Amino acid sequence: MKKVSGLFNKVVKTTGIVSIASIMSANAMANATFDFTQSLNENANTKVVFADNAQELDGALAKLNQESNGQILSLIKLNDFDASFGSTLHLQMVAGTESLLIVGTNDEDGELDAPDLQNLGGKIAGALKSSSKTFNADIHIDNLATTINTPSAHIAYGYQLRHYSFDRYKTKKSSGESTINLVTQNASAASSKFNTDLLFVAQGVHLARDLATEPGKNMYPEAFVKHVKAKFKGVKNIDIDVLDMRDIEKLGMGALAGVGKGSINDPRLLVISYRGAAKNEAPLALVGKGITFDTGGISLKSNSGMWAMKSDLSGAAAVAGAVYAAAKREESINVVGFMPLAENMPSQDAIRPGDVLETMKGVSIEIMSTDAEGRLILADAVHYAQQEYKPKMLLNIATLTGSAARALSDEYAAVITRDFELSTQMMEVGKKSGEHVWPLPLHPNHFEQIKSPIADIKNSGAGNPGASIGAAVVATFVDEDLPWVHLDIAGVDWLDAGNDVAPKGSQGWGVRFMDQLVRDQAK
Ligand code: BES
Ligand code: MN
Ligand code: ZN
Repeated sequence: MKKVSGLFNKVVKTTGIVSIASIMSANAMANATFDFTQSLNENANTKVVFADNAQELDGALAKLNQESNGQILSLIKLNDFDASFGSTLHLQMVAGTESLLIVGTNDEDGELDAPDLQNLGGKIAGALKSSSKTFNADIHIDNLATTINTPSAHIAYGYQLRHYSFDRYKTKKSSGESTINLVTQNASAASSKFNTDLLFVAQGVHLARDLATEPGKNMYPEAFVKHVKAKFKGVKNIDIDVLDMRDIEKLGMGALAGVGKGSINDPRLLVISYRGAAKNEAPLALVGKGITFDTGGISLKSNSGMWAMKSDLSGAAAVAGAVYAAAKREESINVVGFMPLAENMPSQDAIRPGDVLETMKGVSIEIMSTDAEGRLILADAVHYAQQEYKPKMLLNIATLTGSAARALSDEYAAVITRDFELSTQMMEVGKKSGEHVWPLPLHPNHFEQIKSPIADIKNSGAGNPGASIGAAVVATFVDEDLPWVHLDIAGVDWLDAGNDVAPKGSQGWGVRFMDQLVRDQAK
């Protein structure tokens, strides 16, 4: 220890290794096993059936109704179950089944697309979780109005997305072992779609949630690196590069170094490349903000809700998850993930409002607020990505502004580009992935607002519109002719209440979106 510990004093961290080791132990979670089968399972004590019409029962549900001598139909009426999309009716001890879950699929807009099926799977996970912890369930895949090839794979994927809990700090772990049998015609195709593709995306989402939920005390820059490295161990065609403080300073990344300077936990730049295509093929660059805790720095945040700033690394976490998914499912594309990692702390070493930082690109930035730190670490990271990897497209993703969160809340992440056509393309990616984005503008005036009297630019403008000003700072570091997508996920990364595919807390937003972009770019 160099100095006495305290808010405004810097000490040399000596306990790092111990805490890294403890995060390595996996987050224990109730286990779910998926089986794709053609025939019914004798051991199933739970049955799940779909209904698209509550008056005229069809398929598996009609059969069960017969077996129950019409009891099911009576119960449907008694409970006013209308089979509308996502509605559920959970019955006990009817038709010889301990537990029968009926899930409505009636979608007025017509066909069920992939995210619809995934949402149904998530609904089932949510509904069954509240009943017995250990169970064996048959999900009857019929009555589904869809043209998707293997609907059961998407249902299992949605189930797995929703099936998540973070209990490593709980004395009592959730320990249930459930078996989910997807009873379907094309069982082997579905099994392969799930086990060699969608499952990896779900694992990427869970990885992102783990990283974003872990308290800041344990999830500092080097711990993030260690955790992600462990996850990528044995994954093929992966190359991992970690820049430490010395490399960062040597490269002239004064913005990333500056933000990290106030913390005893040094910053890092984690670079993970996946090579799934020819070496000379330009990669897709994914850059994620990785602030392991955002106190605001000397421009200190107020206490209310500050604890949630442990998840200010959600962008970097999503990038790690998306690269993981692409590599595991062996997509034919080159993707490089860049994760600038820093802890934004107030200390005697911290940067001050009014300070000027030199970036790797050479553009100087005057600090208006040390709380506008995300754009600073992204500035150096996007420049490094372009200079070292010459990408064909660059996407950056960040919990960047309260402004984006206020405008769009939980429903959409903000997408900002230099050309609106690209934003509309991203809305399509959103629809296909189940993670939606909505465009916000980037106007020449936003660049005017970040002109500084003493440096090239400043890190925040006069105030409004915050999300666009933040994007303008990052845009300053991106070549104008490079297709560039800026995602502000400050509103969507953390859920106050669960949704179909995620319990409350970190939803790992962005893994599914970027995974879809990877698929589109690979074609
Ligand atoms: N990490 C925050 C943004 C944030 C806010 C994320 C709420 C999630 C929920 C970011 O670093 C920040 O503090 N942004 C400031 C920028 C301002 C000082 C220009 C903001 O939005 O208030
Ligand atoms: Mn901040
Ligand atoms: Zn932040």
